[in-house]
Amino acid sequence: MAKVPCDVTDFKLAPEGKKKILWADQDMPVLALIRKRFEKQKPLKGLRLGCCMHVTSETANLMRTLEAGGASVSLCASNPLSTQDPTAASMVKDFGLSVFARRGESVKVFYAHLNTVVDTKPHITMDDGADLVNLLQTKRQDAGGNIVASMEETTTGVIRLRAMEKAGELKFPVVAVNDADTKHLFDNRYGTGQSTLDGVVRATDTLLAGRRVVVVGYGWCGRGVAMRAKGAGAIVTITEVDPLKALEAVMDGFDVRPMSEAAAVGDLFVTVTGNKHVLRAEHFRKMRHGTIICNSGHFDVEIDIPALRKLAKKVIKGVRQNVDEYQISAKKSIYLLAEGRLVNLAAATGHPASVMDMSFATQALVAEWVKKNARRLKPVVMDVVKAIEDVVSKLKLESMGVRIDKLTRDQAKYLASSGEGT
Ligand code: ADE
Repeated sequence: MAKVPCDVTDFKLAPEGKKKILWADQDMPVLALIRKRFEKQKPLKGLRLGCCMHVTSETANLMRTLEAGGASVSLCASNPLSTQDPTAASMVKDFGLSVFARRGESVKVFYAHLNTVVDTKPHITMDDGADLVNLLQTKRQDAGGNIVASMEETTTGVIRLRAMEKAGELKFPVVAVNDADTKHLFDNRYGTGQSTLDGVVRATDTLLAGRRVVVVGYGWCGRGVAMRAKGAGAIVTITEVDPLKALEAVMDGFDVRPMSEAAAVGDLFVTVTGNKHVLRAEHFRKMRHGTIICNSGHFDVEIDIPALRKLAKKVIKGVRQNVDEYQISAKKSIYLLAEGRLVNLAAATGHPASVMDMSFATQALVAEWVKKNARRLKPVVMDVVKAIEDVVSKLKLESMGVRIDKLTRDQAKYLASSGEGT
């Protein structure tokens, strides 16, 4: 039935997926405006885009926008548990998009899908975690000949790409979309803040008020999770390795202490560091009966799950949907959510459309910018140009009906000169 190459779970789910894509679209007005312009101007005409992103309703609207701009898009999942099967089905059936993603796919199928996207020999890649770039620079160098640039959606991916650049291994120009203010200040903070707690509550039905929530890492995602947990009445502790971020957490009014102490007092632990094994055996040993642990960082390495498994006398999978019980002793169980994968996307539906509107409007405009500037791009990690951020924030404000002031001519002159002082 599908007219485009694809691998999705079930086309019967397409009607449900279509409703959700259109529902999300109503809350993505900036992206919709860009799509309208793209339909007329076709700025991406002739480009093949290889995308590895979370397959959600919001991503569907980004893919629609890129195709409206004249690009030919292939999409695979950036996480085996984040795919929304109804959305994937509708993207193929109703919108003619080429999608390779099945929720719960094995690691083997996950990589087969990545390779299928790479097989299209894309001009631009759009990554959420740098998996496509990594593949194109290692096992699949054969397919990298057409690459103009790559775009990276997430903090973890940018960290990986900067490490490649530092080691002299980066072969393609990369735009760090994550680092745009229009992305991380909103998506990482308000998106992760809300969707992580949404995932925890959907999985456990737990009450947050009065609970001791330990947020591991005080980057933009950690700030968001901590802020929302506090708002829900939790007693929030932060653990950090960076003195400046720790200081900020203290002055934001949070309890800050090392994990060696926090492990014994927390009811719920959320990891958002981008680093590995920030919760490990020495911490599991100190945790109390009934402790809930989860991760909202990109990869499932933040919690040392093999060590947890080794400590456990018994593991009971699926005591609730997305909850596994690790029985450490007759008197102590630890509950792991979503197998340690992104709890906000695996146990909930990811960030709300309104915030993805800004991230994905930025992505769409960067794709256009990459095409225009293809000739002068170097194999380094670049920031998004300020002009794109200005357009996105201005349009977002307009869509919200918020008006702001303008500098007077005199004020503009004052800011541009050093003449006036005390
Ligand atoms: N990352 C976090 N939330 C997301 C969403 N709703 N869609 C795509 N990527 C996401």
